[in-house]
Amino acid sequence: MERIQKVIAQSGYCSRRKAEELIKDGKVEVNGKTITEMGIKVNYDDDITVNGESINLKEDKVYYVLNKPRGIITSTSDEKKRKTVVDLIKEEKRIYPVGRLDYDTTGVLLLTNDGELTNLLIHPKNNVEKLYIAKINGIPTKEELIRLSKGVIIDGKKTSSAKVKIKRINKKLNTSLLEITIHEGRNHQIKKMIEAIGYEVIRLRRERFAFLDVDNLKPGEYRKLNIKEVKSLYNLVQKNDK
Ligand code: URA
Repeated sequence: MERIQKVIAQSGYCSRRKAEELIKDGKVEVNGKTITEMGIKVNYDDDITVNGESINLKEDKVYYVLNKPRGIITSTSDEKKRKTVVDLIKEEKRIYPVGRLDYDTTGVLLLTNDGELTNLLIHPKNNVEKLYIAKINGIPTKEELIRLSKGVIIDGKKTSSAKVKIKRINKKLNTSLLEITIHEGRNHQIKKMIEAIGYEVIRLRRERFAFLDVDNLKPGEYRKLNIKEVKSLYNLVQKNDK
């Protein structure tokens, strides 16, 4: 049992102080009853609404964001018995990754057991934005970057438009760091796009998936999403879905 304002704050809905104000103003209901008493104790499975909005996660659903380290496969199992991203997360429920990052790619990876959200997030029509930082072996010209942003042919099909920016150039080592934002999720997409303009990716990191980042997580670390983030993901794809 936890104090109601703590449970509301932990859900990510608002701060504890704001939760106290909402309780005082009669905006909080527990199992259908308005409560105005501060500090009543609730269970995590009590049905809690704030301003009419449920702060409970869907029953049995879990959502994690992982900072995927290099050298781990994005899969739920591996016939060669290599460690998978799922092995990194202490969770009894069967979870799986949303989309795929290569063995040597690092960065943001969402894992869940929510099949509905997974399907919405990976469906191409929903255009979920993914931002990658790629270190490449060379310094592309302006024309090459324009080609990349307008779309290049990979596996016989043109990629949709991408945002491309040079972040850093190392003339001595003849390498550059590109920031590339795409909305598709094709196999080895970034590496193939870079190959299509004549270069090779040396290192690849996914910096953002939708609005999620791993800025406060070291490689291999993960955290649970809060209800606000889960709802925002649903809003994002359901809005695009209409
Ligand atoms: N594009 C790639 O080439 N690899 C990844 O892991 C992700 C996007």
